[in-house]
Amino acid sequence: MIDENSLICRLPKCELHIHIEGSLEPELMFALARRNGIRLPYDSIDALRRAYQFARLQDFLDIYYQGMSVLITERDFHDLAWAYLTRAQADNVHHVEMFFDPQGHTSRGVDFATVVNGLTAATAKAEAELGISASLIMCFLRHLDEADAERTLDLALAHRDKIMGVGLDSSELGHPPSKFTRVFRRARDAGFSLFAHAGEEGPPDYVWQAIDVLGVDRIDHGHRSLEDDTLVARLARDRMALTVCPLSNLRLRVVDDLKRHPLRRMMQRDLLVTVNSDDPAYFGGYVNDNFRAVRSALNLERDEIVALARNSFVAAMMPEGEKQTALAALDRVAASLPR
Ligand code: ADE
Ligand code: ZN
Repeated sequence: MIDENSLICRLPKCELHIHIEGSLEPELMFALARRNGIRLPYDSIDALRRAYQFARLQDFLDIYYQGMSVLITERDFHDLAWAYLTRAQADNVHHVEMFFDPQGHTSRGVDFATVVNGLTAATAKAEAELGISASLIMCFLRHLDEADAERTLDLALAHRDKIMGVGLDSSELGHPPSKFTRVFRRARDAGFSLFAHAGEEGPPDYVWQAIDVLGVDRIDHGHRSLEDDTLVARLARDRMALTVCPLSNLRLRVVDDLKRHPLRRMMQRDLLVTVNSDDPAYFGGYVNDNFRAVRSALNLERDEIVALARNSFVAAMMPEGEKQTALAALDRVAASLPR
């Protein structure tokens, strides 16, 4: 019999919900602050880590936007993404769809091109040197207005070839998906895939809006969908993927105990769920840590772990041929492991 940790490590997987700015480890944050002559409001790495206590999403977001202030040059964005991608390789991640928050940078005077070119240099190197395919999803900050999102989309159009999709993140409550109807329509017309955080803290109605008003291809988080049986049936019928982030949910107090995490209930209701890290530097774990945490809290069976890894490829925005090849490879790995 193979132990669950080896099983989790050996299975190839995709990561579909990672905010690259949320992978900024304190050590790199301090190194970049030094390189760029920026003073952080913390004396030490330990003091910074001690500040990572969150009672809700907004507590985290405040510290997350402050942390990204050390990212200034193309090299900084490259180094950030490269650190994440090498870490992802250690978790046997084969494909990454990476969120970034351009408005968190352009609002500080950093050019859109600096951000995108730095991230793209790292993803191209990962493809060549690590065998990881990676694409970029540009998120609109939902606490800002739609006009700001529209200006950001205008900037992105000059880099259309480097950006796969458009997403929606930041403070959810009070900022429903419908606030971004026009900009999402424009993004769809420009050929971007569409994503939205919905049902993390917000109600099931926000998930309805994400699918029916914005027309998203995938939902980020989405666990509050379980409060609405009609919505669950719709998500299951449409094979709408949901990117779930267990350690994030614990650290942001969306769940009070991982033993009560809704992941298994979502699987039992036939939802296409995946496991992801969200902001690993802030929530204490990369993708395999998330797999291990839910496995042990929920006593997930071997077949459930394999199904979650499989779902990550099913839900990925990969060309169909590559997806089938990757799924066949995953099935071979799973079959070769002792039961
Ligand atoms: N930005 C980074 N992480 C986020 C999350 N979990 N929810 C909303 N916005 C985010
Ligand atoms: Zn997220």
